[in-house]
Amino acid sequence: MHNMTKKVTISFDDKTIELPLIVGSEGERAIDISSLRAKTGLITLDSGYANTASCLSSITFIDGEKSILNYRGYPIKMLAEGYDFISIAWLLIFGELPTTEERSSFRKILTKEELLHENLLHHFKAFPDYGHPMAMLSAVVNSMGCYDQTLLEAGHPKDFLLSASIIISKIRTIAACTYRKSMGLPLNYPNPAHSYSANFLHMMFSLPHKEHVPNPDAVKALDLFFLLHADHEQNCSCSTVRMVGSSNASIFASVSAGISALWGPLHGGANAAVIEMLESIQNGEHTIDELLELVKQKKKKLMGFGHRVYKNIDPRANLLKTAAENLLEKLKIADPLLDIAMELYEKATKDSYCIEKNLHPNVDFYSGIVLRALNIPVNMFPVMFAIGRTPGWIAHWHEGQLNDKKIQRPRQVYVGETLRSL
Ligand code: SDX
Repeated sequence: MHNMTKKVTISFDDKTIELPLIVGSEGERAIDISSLRAKTGLITLDSGYANTASCLSSITFIDGEKSILNYRGYPIKMLAEGYDFISIAWLLIFGELPTTEERSSFRKILTKEELLHENLLHHFKAFPDYGHPMAMLSAVVNSMGCYDQTLLEAGHPKDFLLSASIIISKIRTIAACTYRKSMGLPLNYPNPAHSYSANFLHMMFSLPHKEHVPNPDAVKALDLFFLLHADHEQNCSCSTVRMVGSSNASIFASVSAGISALWGPLHGGANAAVIEMLESIQNGEHTIDELLELVKQKKKKLMGFGHRVYKNIDPRANLLKTAAENLLEKLKIADPLLDIAMELYEKATKDSYCIEKNLHPNVDFYSGIVLRALNIPVNMFPVMFAIGRTPGWIAHWHEGQLNDKKIQRPRQVYVGETLRSL
Protein backbone atom coordinates (compact mmCIF):
# COMPACT_ATOMS: atom_id res chain seq x y z
CA MET A 1 0.00 0.00 0.00
CA HIS A 2 1.61 3.28 -1.02
CA ASN A 3 0.52 6.53 -2.53
CA MET A 4 2.14 8.83 -5.09
CA THR A 5 0.04 11.98 -4.79
CA LYS A 6 2.87 14.35 -3.76
CA LYS A 7 5.72 15.62 -5.92
CA VAL A 8 9.33 16.72 -5.32
CA THR A 9 10.82 19.59 -7.30
CA ILE A 10 14.45 19.41 -8.41
CA SER A 11 16.12 22.47 -9.88
CA PHE A 12 19.57 22.55 -11.49
CA ASP A 13 21.17 24.63 -14.24
CA ASP A 14 18.25 26.37 -15.86
CA LYS A 15 15.86 23.42 -15.43
CA THR A 16 13.22 22.51 -12.83
CA ILE A 17 11.51 19.15 -12.88
CA GLU A 18 8.96 17.41 -10.70
CA LEU A 19 9.33 13.79 -9.55
CA PRO A 20 6.71 11.67 -7.76
CA LEU A 21 7.04 11.29 -3.98
CA ILE A 22 6.09 7.78 -2.84
CA VAL A 23 4.86 7.34 0.77
CA GLY A 24 4.95 3.78 2.16
CA SER A 25 2.38 2.24 4.49
CA GLU A 26 4.60 3.02 7.50
CA GLY A 27 5.15 6.60 6.35
CA GLU A 28 8.55 6.08 4.68
CA ARG A 29 8.98 8.58 1.85
CA ALA A 30 10.94 8.04 -1.37
CA ILE A 31 11.56 10.11 -4.46
CA ASP A 32 10.71 7.99 -7.50
CA ILE A 33 13.67 8.75 -9.82
CA SER A 34 12.62 6.26 -12.52
CA SER A 35 12.23 9.14 -15.01
CA LEU A 36 15.20 11.25 -13.81
CA ARG A 37 17.64 10.37 -16.61
CA ALA A 38 15.00 10.63 -19.32
CA LYS A 39 13.94 14.07 -18.03
CA THR A 40 17.39 15.49 -17.14
CA GLY A 41 20.19 13.23 -18.36
CA LEU A 42 21.26 12.98 -14.69
CA ILE A 43 21.75 9.75 -12.73
CA THR A 44 22.31 9.33 -8.97
CA LEU A 45 25.28 7.85 -7.08
CA ASP A 46 24.74 6.11 -3.74
CA SER A 47 27.65 3.94 -2.54
CA GLY A 48 26.29 0.85 -0.74
CA TYR A 49 22.75 1.95 -1.60
CA ALA A 50 22.41 3.46 1.90
CA ASN A 51 19.86 5.97 0.58
CA THR A 52 18.30 3.94 -2.22
CA ALA A 53 15.26 1.67 -2.28
CA SER A 54 15.54 -1.10 -4.87
CA CYS A 55 11.86 -2.08 -4.75
CA LEU A 56 8.50 -1.79 -3.08
CA SER A 57 8.11 -4.62 -0.57
CA SER A 58 5.35 -5.83 1.76
CA ILE A 59 7.29 -8.51 3.61
CA THR A 60 9.38 -6.98 6.44
CA PHE A 61 9.45 -3.53 8.00
CA ILE A 62 12.37 -2.21 10.05
CA ASP A 63 12.53 1.12 11.88
CA GLY A 64 16.21 1.38 12.80
CA GLU A 65 15.76 4.35 15.10
CA LYS A 66 12.94 2.74 17.10
CA SER A 67 14.32 -0.86 17.08
CA ILE A 68 11.21 -2.07 15.26
CA LEU A 69 11.23 -5.31 13.24
CA ASN A 70 7.90 -6.59 11.90
CA TYR A 71 7.28 -9.62 9.66
CA ARG A 72 4.15 -8.91 7.55
CA GLY A 73 3.07 -6.33 10.16
CA TYR A 74 3.54 -8.56 13.22
CA PRO A 75 6.22 -7.51 15.80
CA ILE A 76 9.12 -9.99 15.96
CA LYS A 77 8.80 -10.40 19.75
CA MET A 78 5.14 -11.44 19.48
CA LEU A 79 5.95 -13.95 16.73
CA ALA A 80 8.97 -15.31 18.63
CA GLU A 81 6.84 -15.91 21.71
CA GLY A 82 3.93 -17.56 19.95
CA TYR A 83 4.97 -19.32 16.76
CA ASP A 84 7.49 -21.77 15.37
CA PHE A 85 9.91 -21.37 12.48
CA ILE A 86 7.86 -23.13 9.79
CA SER A 87 4.75 -21.07 10.66
CA ILE A 88 6.81 -17.90 10.25
CA ALA A 89 8.26 -19.22 6.98
CA TRP A 90 4.67 -19.55 5.71
CA LEU A 91 3.80 -16.03 6.98
CA LEU A 92 6.80 -14.45 5.21
CA ILE A 93 6.16 -16.25 1.93
CA PHE A 94 2.36 -16.11 1.73
CA GLY A 95 1.60 -13.01 3.83
CA GLU A 96 -0.64 -14.54 6.51
CA LEU A 97 -0.03 -16.88 9.44
CA PRO A 98 -0.98 -20.41 8.37
CA THR A 99 -4.29 -21.96 9.40
CA THR A 100 -4.02 -25.28 11.24
CA GLU A 101 -4.69 -27.07 7.96
CA GLU A 102 -2.16 -24.97 6.02
CA ARG A 103 0.52 -25.57 8.64
CA SER A 104 -0.20 -29.30 8.68
CA SER A 105 -0.05 -29.64 4.89
CA PHE A 106 3.10 -27.48 4.72
CA ARG A 107 4.75 -29.69 7.34
CA LYS A 108 3.77 -32.79 5.31
CA ILE A 109 5.42 -31.38 2.17
CA LEU A 110 8.55 -30.42 4.13
CA THR A 111 8.73 -33.95 5.53
CA LYS A 112 8.18 -35.49 2.09
CA GLU A 113 10.95 -33.30 0.64
CA GLU A 114 13.52 -33.77 3.43
CA LEU A 115 15.55 -36.45 1.61
CA LEU A 116 18.24 -35.52 -0.92
CA HIS A 117 18.47 -37.34 -4.27
CA GLU A 118 20.97 -40.13 -3.61
CA ASN A 119 23.22 -38.86 -6.41
CA LEU A 120 23.48 -35.49 -4.60
CA LEU A 121 25.15 -37.27 -1.69
CA HIS A 122 28.07 -38.11 -4.02
CA HIS A 123 28.98 -34.41 -4.04
CA PHE A 124 30.03 -34.80 -0.42
CA LYS A 125 32.43 -37.60 -1.36
CA ALA A 126 34.14 -35.21 -3.79
CA PHE A 127 34.44 -32.27 -1.37
CA PRO A 128 37.63 -32.18 0.77
CA ASP A 129 37.00 -32.73 4.52
CA TYR A 130 38.40 -29.25 5.18
CA GLY A 131 36.04 -27.60 2.65
CA HIS A 132 34.13 -24.63 4.08
CA PRO A 133 30.50 -25.57 4.79
CA MET A 134 29.21 -22.39 3.09
CA ALA A 135 30.98 -23.34 -0.16
CA MET A 136 29.40 -26.80 -0.03
CA LEU A 137 25.97 -25.40 0.90
CA SER A 138 25.94 -22.93 -1.99
CA ALA A 139 27.17 -25.57 -4.47
CA VAL A 140 24.73 -28.31 -3.47
CA VAL A 141 21.71 -25.97 -3.26
CA ASN A 142 22.43 -24.89 -6.83
CA SER A 143 22.94 -28.52 -7.87
CA MET A 144 19.52 -29.50 -6.50
CA GLY A 145 17.98 -27.80 -9.50
CA CYS A 146 19.68 -30.36 -11.77
CA TYR A 147 17.61 -33.16 -10.29
CA ASP A 148 14.25 -31.79 -11.24
CA GLN A 149 14.31 -29.92 -14.54
CA THR A 150 10.75 -28.64 -14.03
CA LEU A 151 12.03 -26.60 -11.09
CA LEU A 152 14.78 -25.02 -13.16
CA GLU A 153 12.35 -23.27 -15.48
CA ALA A 154 13.08 -19.60 -15.97
CA GLY A 155 11.12 -17.26 -13.81
CA HIS A 156 8.23 -18.19 -11.60
CA PRO A 157 7.89 -21.99 -11.30
CA LYS A 158 4.46 -23.53 -11.91
CA ASP A 159 4.52 -25.20 -8.52
CA PHE A 160 6.08 -22.43 -6.42
CA LEU A 161 5.03 -24.03 -3.12
CA LEU A 162 6.85 -27.24 -4.08
CA SER A 163 10.01 -25.34 -5.06
CA ALA A 164 9.91 -23.31 -1.84
CA SER A 165 9.32 -26.43 0.27
CA ILE A 166 12.13 -28.33 -1.43
CA ILE A 167 14.65 -25.62 -0.59
CA ILE A 168 13.42 -24.94 2.97
CA SER A 169 13.42 -28.65 3.79
CA LYS A 170 16.54 -29.79 1.99
CA ILE A 171 18.82 -26.87 2.95
CA ARG A 172 18.64 -28.31 6.49
CA THR A 173 19.65 -31.78 5.25
CA ILE A 174 22.48 -30.37 3.11
CA ALA A 175 23.73 -28.26 6.05
CA ALA A 176 23.91 -31.30 8.31
CA CYS A 177 25.79 -33.19 5.55
CA THR A 178 28.40 -30.42 5.34
CA TYR A 179 29.06 -30.81 9.06
CA ARG A 180 29.22 -34.61 8.92
CA LYS A 181 31.62 -34.36 5.95
CA SER A 182 33.91 -31.98 7.82
CA MET A 183 33.96 -34.38 10.79
CA GLY A 184 34.65 -37.46 8.68
CA LEU A 185 31.37 -38.95 9.91
CA PRO A 186 28.84 -40.91 7.85
CA LEU A 187 25.98 -38.78 6.49
CA ASN A 188 22.66 -39.14 8.33
CA TYR A 189 19.25 -39.49 6.77
CA PRO A 190 16.42 -37.32 8.10
CA ASN A 191 13.88 -38.87 10.47
CA PRO A 192 10.29 -37.92 9.52
CA ALA A 193 9.17 -38.39 13.11
CA HIS A 194 11.07 -35.25 14.13
CA SER A 195 10.00 -31.61 13.90
CA TYR A 196 11.94 -29.31 11.53
CA SER A 197 14.58 -28.22 14.04
CA ALA A 198 14.77 -31.52 15.95
CA ASN A 199 15.42 -33.32 12.65
CA PHE A 200 18.36 -31.02 11.98
CA LEU A 201 19.92 -31.84 15.36
CA HIS A 202 19.32 -35.54 14.71
CA MET A 203 21.06 -35.32 11.32
CA MET A 204 23.93 -33.38 12.88
CA PHE A 205 24.63 -35.56 15.90
CA SER A 206 23.18 -39.09 15.55
CA LEU A 207 25.81 -41.83 15.32
CA PRO A 208 25.47 -45.24 13.61
CA HIS A 209 25.25 -46.93 16.97
CA LYS A 210 23.42 -44.18 18.85
CA GLU A 211 20.46 -42.06 17.71
CA HIS A 212 20.75 -38.49 19.00
CA VAL A 213 17.64 -37.59 21.02
CA PRO A 214 17.39 -33.80 20.71
CA ASN A 215 16.89 -32.00 24.04
CA PRO A 216 13.52 -30.14 23.92
CA ASP A 217 15.14 -26.93 25.23
CA ALA A 218 17.81 -27.16 22.55
CA VAL A 219 15.15 -27.68 19.85
CA LYS A 220 13.17 -24.67 21.14
CA ALA A 221 16.27 -22.46 21.14
CA LEU A 222 17.28 -23.59 17.64
CA ASP A 223 13.78 -23.00 16.27
CA LEU A 224 13.84 -19.49 17.77
CA PHE A 225 17.30 -18.91 16.27
CA PHE A 226 15.98 -19.83 12.80
CA LEU A 227 12.83 -17.68 13.29
CA LEU A 228 14.82 -14.60 14.33
CA HIS A 229 17.02 -14.94 11.23
CA ALA A 230 14.11 -15.59 8.84
CA ASP A 231 14.09 -12.19 7.10
CA HIS A 232 15.48 -8.69 7.33
CA GLU A 233 14.25 -6.81 4.22
CA GLN A 234 16.82 -5.68 1.64
CA ASN A 235 20.06 -6.84 3.32
CA CYS A 236 23.04 -7.77 1.17
CA SER A 237 22.10 -11.43 0.64
CA CYS A 238 18.38 -10.73 0.09
CA SER A 239 19.17 -8.04 -2.48
CA THR A 240 21.49 -10.56 -4.16
CA VAL A 241 18.67 -13.12 -4.37
CA ARG A 242 16.32 -10.51 -5.84
CA MET A 243 18.95 -9.31 -8.32
CA VAL A 244 19.75 -12.84 -9.54
CA GLY A 245 16.01 -13.62 -9.69
CA SER A 246 15.42 -10.47 -11.76
CA SER A 247 17.25 -12.13 -14.68
CA ASN A 248 14.69 -14.98 -14.45
CA ALA A 249 17.32 -17.33 -13.07
CA SER A 250 15.82 -20.26 -11.15
CA ILE A 251 14.96 -20.08 -7.47
CA PHE A 252 17.79 -22.55 -6.77
CA ALA A 253 20.39 -20.38 -8.53
CA SER A 254 19.06 -17.29 -6.74
CA VAL A 255 19.15 -18.82 -3.25
CA SER A 256 22.61 -20.25 -3.95
CA ALA A 257 23.81 -16.72 -4.78
CA GLY A 258 22.24 -15.45 -1.54
CA ILE A 259 24.23 -18.05 0.43
CA SER A 260 27.45 -16.78 -1.14
CA ALA A 261 26.61 -13.17 -0.27
CA LEU A 262 25.74 -14.15 3.30
CA TRP A 263 29.15 -15.83 3.75
CA GLY A 264 31.02 -12.50 4.13
CA PRO A 265 32.25 -11.59 7.66
CA LEU A 266 30.48 -8.22 7.44
CA HIS A 267 27.14 -10.01 6.93
CA GLY A 268 26.28 -13.57 7.88
CA GLY A 269 29.85 -14.45 8.74
CA ALA A 270 29.81 -11.97 11.64
CA ASN A 271 28.39 -14.50 14.13
CA ALA A 272 31.58 -16.55 13.79
CA ALA A 273 33.72 -13.39 13.92
CA VAL A 274 32.03 -12.43 17.23
CA ILE A 275 33.13 -15.70 18.85
CA GLU A 276 36.67 -15.21 17.53
CA MET A 277 36.61 -11.69 19.01
CA LEU A 278 35.36 -12.91 22.42
CA GLU A 279 37.96 -15.71 22.41
CA SER A 280 40.71 -13.17 21.68
CA ILE A 281 39.70 -11.44 24.92
CA GLN A 282 39.41 -14.74 26.79
CA ASN A 283 42.91 -15.88 25.70
CA GLY A 284 44.43 -12.55 26.69
CA GLU A 285 45.27 -11.27 23.20
CA HIS A 286 43.83 -7.95 24.38
CA THR A 287 41.59 -6.66 27.16
CA ILE A 288 38.15 -5.23 26.41
CA ASP A 289 39.56 -1.71 26.89
CA GLU A 290 42.43 -2.44 24.49
CA LEU A 291 39.96 -3.83 21.94
CA LEU A 292 37.82 -0.69 22.15
CA GLU A 293 40.97 1.38 21.63
CA LEU A 294 41.79 -0.61 18.47
CA VAL A 295 38.22 0.01 17.27
CA LYS A 296 38.63 3.75 17.80
CA GLN A 297 41.88 3.63 15.82
CA LYS A 298 39.89 1.80 13.09
CA LYS A 299 42.31 -1.12 13.38
CA LYS A 300 39.47 -3.47 14.32
CA LYS A 301 35.73 -3.69 13.83
CA LEU A 302 33.59 -4.41 16.89
CA MET A 303 32.03 -7.59 15.50
CA GLY A 304 28.36 -8.09 16.35
CA PHE A 305 27.94 -4.33 16.76
CA GLY A 306 26.69 -1.69 14.35
CA HIS A 307 24.19 -1.94 11.54
CA ARG A 308 23.32 -0.19 8.31
CA VAL A 309 19.71 0.29 9.43
CA TYR A 310 19.55 -0.06 13.22
CA LYS A 311 20.88 3.05 14.98
CA ASN A 312 19.61 1.57 18.22
CA ILE A 313 19.73 -2.00 19.54
CA ASP A 314 18.69 -4.72 17.10
CA PRO A 315 15.52 -6.22 18.67
CA ARG A 316 16.74 -9.67 17.72
CA ALA A 317 19.85 -9.18 19.91
CA ASN A 318 17.69 -8.77 23.03
CA LEU A 319 15.67 -11.90 22.19
CA LEU A 320 18.83 -13.95 21.48
CA LYS A 321 20.47 -12.73 24.71
CA THR A 322 17.48 -14.03 26.68
CA ALA A 323 17.48 -17.28 24.70
CA ALA A 324 21.19 -17.76 25.39
CA GLU A 325 20.76 -17.18 29.12
CA ASN A 326 17.75 -19.52 29.32
CA LEU A 327 19.41 -22.27 27.28
CA LEU A 328 22.62 -22.21 29.32
CA GLU A 329 20.56 -22.41 32.49
CA LYS A 330 18.36 -25.28 31.21
CA LEU A 331 21.36 -27.23 29.90
CA LYS A 332 23.32 -26.36 33.05
CA ILE A 333 26.20 -25.01 30.97
CA ALA A 334 28.38 -22.09 31.96
CA ASP A 335 29.93 -20.36 28.95
CA PRO A 336 32.68 -17.89 29.93
CA LEU A 337 32.22 -16.17 26.55
CA LEU A 338 28.74 -15.08 27.63
CA ASP A 339 30.22 -13.38 30.68
CA ILE A 340 32.81 -11.68 28.44
CA ALA A 341 30.03 -10.65 26.02
CA MET A 342 28.04 -9.11 28.86
CA GLU A 343 31.10 -7.18 30.11
CA LEU A 344 31.89 -6.01 26.57
CA TYR A 345 28.27 -4.91 26.12
CA GLU A 346 28.37 -2.89 29.35
CA LYS A 347 31.62 -1.13 28.35
CA ALA A 348 30.84 -0.62 24.67
CA THR A 349 27.40 0.86 25.24
CA LYS A 350 28.91 3.42 27.65
CA ASP A 351 31.88 4.22 25.38
CA SER A 352 31.70 7.68 23.76
CA TYR A 353 33.04 6.46 20.39
CA CYS A 354 30.51 3.62 20.21
CA ILE A 355 27.74 6.01 21.19
CA GLU A 356 28.86 8.53 18.57
CA LYS A 357 28.97 5.83 15.85
CA ASN A 358 25.65 4.25 16.97
CA LEU A 359 27.31 0.92 17.69
CA HIS A 360 24.69 -1.27 19.36
CA PRO A 361 24.61 -5.11 19.44
CA ASN A 362 23.08 -6.67 16.34
CA VAL A 363 21.66 -10.13 15.68
CA ASP A 364 25.13 -11.67 15.59
CA PHE A 365 26.36 -10.60 19.01
CA TYR A 366 24.64 -13.25 21.11
CA SER A 367 23.69 -15.78 18.42
CA GLY A 368 27.04 -17.55 18.68
CA ILE A 369 26.49 -18.21 22.39
CA VAL A 370 23.26 -20.07 21.55
CA LEU A 371 25.00 -22.05 18.81
CA ARG A 372 27.93 -22.98 21.06
CA ALA A 373 25.47 -24.30 23.66
CA LEU A 374 23.99 -26.46 20.86
CA ASN A 375 27.51 -27.83 20.08
CA ILE A 376 27.48 -26.24 16.62
CA PRO A 377 31.07 -25.56 15.52
CA VAL A 378 32.01 -21.96 14.59
CA ASN A 379 32.56 -22.70 10.90
CA MET A 380 28.91 -23.80 10.74
CA PHE A 381 27.59 -20.52 12.19
CA PRO A 382 26.97 -18.80 8.78
CA VAL A 383 25.30 -22.04 7.61
CA MET A 384 22.86 -21.80 10.53
CA PHE A 385 22.11 -18.21 9.53
CA ALA A 386 21.46 -19.40 5.95
CA ILE A 387 18.96 -22.07 7.07
CA GLY A 388 17.04 -19.43 9.03
CA ARG A 389 17.17 -16.86 6.21
CA THR A 390 15.94 -19.20 3.49
CA PRO A 391 12.21 -18.39 3.89
CA GLY A 392 12.98 -14.66 3.66
CA TRP A 393 15.06 -15.13 0.51
CA ILE A 394 12.26 -17.20 -1.03
CA ALA A 395 9.59 -14.66 -0.02
CA HIS A 396 11.57 -11.84 -1.65
CA TRP A 397 12.40 -13.89 -4.74
CA HIS A 398 8.63 -14.64 -5.10
CA GLU A 399 7.70 -10.96 -4.57
CA GLY A 400 10.34 -9.94 -7.13
CA GLN A 401 9.05 -12.42 -9.70
CA LEU A 402 5.50 -11.14 -9.24
CA ASN A 403 6.18 -7.39 -8.99
CA ASP A 404 9.58 -6.37 -10.38
CA LYS A 405 9.14 -6.26 -14.13
CA LYS A 406 12.69 -5.06 -14.89
CA ILE A 407 16.02 -6.87 -14.72
CA GLN A 408 18.15 -5.16 -12.07
CA ARG A 409 20.97 -3.31 -13.81
CA PRO A 410 22.39 -0.27 -11.93
CA ARG A 411 24.29 2.42 -13.83
CA GLN A 412 27.75 3.77 -12.93
CA VAL A 413 29.71 6.99 -13.05
CA TYR A 414 32.71 6.26 -15.28
CA VAL A 415 35.94 7.78 -13.95
CA GLY A 416 38.43 5.79 -16.05
CA GLU A 417 40.60 6.74 -19.02
CA THR A 418 38.89 8.77 -21.72
CA LEU A 419 39.30 7.74 -25.37
CA ARG A 420 42.98 7.29 -26.24
CA SER A 421 45.04 5.70 -29.04
CA LEU A 422 47.79 3.03 -28.80
C1 SDX B 1 23.97 -8.60 9.54
O1 SDX B 1 21.66 -5.48 6.55
C2 SDX B 1 21.12 -6.36 7.37
O2 SDX B 1 19.96 -6.33 7.67
C3 SDX B 1 22.08 -7.43 7.83
C4 SDX B 1 21.57 -8.37 8.92
C5 SDX B 1 20.48 -9.30 8.43
O3 SDX B 1 19.68 -9.78 9.26
O4 SDX B 1 20.50 -9.62 7.22
O5 SDX B 1 21.07 -7.62 10.03
C6 SDX B 1 22.67 -9.29 9.40
O6 SDX B 1 24.73 -8.59 8.60
C7 SDX B 1 24.24 -7.87 10.82
C8 SDX B 1 25.62 -7.14 10.79
C9 SDX B 1 26.71 -8.16 11.08
N1 SDX B 1 28.03 -7.55 10.86
C10 SDX B 1 28.81 -7.23 11.92
O7 SDX B 1 28.47 -7.34 13.10
C11 SDX B 1 30.18 -6.73 11.48
C12 SDX B 1 30.51 -5.47 12.28
N2 SDX B 1 29.58 -4.43 11.81
C13 SDX B 1 30.10 -3.49 10.86
O8 SDX B 1 30.99 -4.04 9.91
C14 SDX B 1 29.03 -2.55 10.31
O9 SDX B 1 28.31 -2.11 11.38
C15 SDX B 1 28.08 -3.03 9.24
C16 SDX B 1 28.78 -3.66 8.09
C17 SDX B 1 27.08 -4.00 9.79
C18 SDX B 1 27.34 -1.81 8.74
O10 SDX B 1 28.32 -1.02 8.13
P1 SDX B 1 27.97 0.44 7.62
O11 SDX B 1 26.68 0.46 6.93
O12 SDX B 1 29.16 0.98 6.92
O13 SDX B 1 27.82 1.21 9.00
P2 SDX B 1 27.64 2.75 9.13
O14 SDX B 1 27.58 3.43 7.79
O15 SDX B 1 26.50 2.97 10.08
O16 SDX B 1 29.03 3.21 9.84
C19 SDX B 1 29.08 4.46 10.45
C20 SDX B 1 30.44 4.59 11.10
C21 SDX B 1 31.59 4.30 10.14
O17 SDX B 1 32.71 5.05 10.60
P3 SDX B 1 32.99 6.51 9.88
O18 SDX B 1 33.19 6.23 8.41
O19 SDX B 1 31.79 7.36 10.19
O20 SDX B 1 34.27 6.99 10.57
O21 SDX B 1 30.56 3.61 12.14
C22 SDX B 1 31.66 2.76 11.85
C23 SDX B 1 31.90 2.85 10.37
O22 SDX B 1 33.24 2.51 10.08
N3 SDX B 1 31.26 1.40 12.23
C24 SDX B 1 32.00 0.59 12.99
C25 SDX B 1 31.25 -0.58 13.13
N4 SDX B 1 30.10 -0.45 12.43
C26 SDX B 1 30.11 0.78 11.87
N5 SDX B 1 33.21 0.75 13.57
C27 SDX B 1 33.68 -0.30 14.28
N6 SDX B 1 33.01 -1.46 14.46
C28 SDX B 1 31.80 -1.64 13.90
N7 SDX B 1 31.14 -2.77 14.09
